[in-house]
Amino acid sequence: PLATIVAPSLLSCDFGNLGAEAKRVLDAGADWLHVDVMDGHFVDNLTLGPVVFQGLRRAVGQQVFLDCHFMTTAPVFWIEQFARVNGDNQGPAPNLGCTFHYEVFGEDGLRMALALCERVRALRARPAVALRPSTPVEAVLPLVDAAAVDMVLIMTVEPGHGGQSFMPECLPKVRFLRERYPLLDIQADGGIGLTTADAAAQAGCNVLVSGSAVFGAGPDAGRVIAGLREALH
Ligand code: DX5
Ligand code: ZN
Repeated sequence: PLATIVAPSLLSCDFGNLGAEAKRVLDAGADWLHVDVMDGHFVDNLTLGPVVFQGLRRAVGQQVFLDCHFMTTAPVFWIEQFARVNGDNQGPAPNLGCTFHYEVFGEDGLRMALALCERVRALRARPAVALRPSTPVEAVLPLVDAAAVDMVLIMTVEPGHGGQSFMPECLPKVRFLRERYPLLDIQADGGIGLTTADAAAQAGCNVLVSGSAVFGAGPDAGRVIAGLREALH
């Protein structure tokens, strides 16, 4: 059966207290932590690099799954560095997710994406591919068919910033994938909160990212996480 996963996005946390914020939402019931890596190129925002990521890993320990979403034009370069500072993972399953955007690869996209997925597996991490709202879902079917990725991330806002409005017009991509792949992890990212989670879950998502809704709830983060989980059932 499909796992149901709630992944708060640290993009909306108090970065002055990154470690404490991470632990707070884990205590409040988060399954994964979603880490948005932006390079100022692929999107017009800049977040964190390997130095800060290493601090985050140290703060939460090796057991926590860190779901890194690379909104970077050079995913290969950054994934190598994040995997290096992630440290040894003693557990049986990977503790690092490496989601790259299909759009960063041009003409020869499929071949480059396959090579990157292989490299991610060699680093003992979990490969996934993300699509901006305007990218057709067909682009990633060969990656799923080849079992090169374990998850597809469907963006439900334009990548770059937290707190934007959910785009329901992206959900047909989720439905299309779920019809074909009953066991694939499908993640929605952007504008997910208590009022939009149902639509994403009903379309077929089993992994929900939520930034501003979770962190904007302050001490009620646990209630929002529980509500998101409820939508997935
Ligand atoms: C947007 C990021 C999202 C973002 C979601 O570029 O990929 O992960 O943090 O934030 P909310 O939930 O506020 O839309
Ligand atoms: Zn994200």
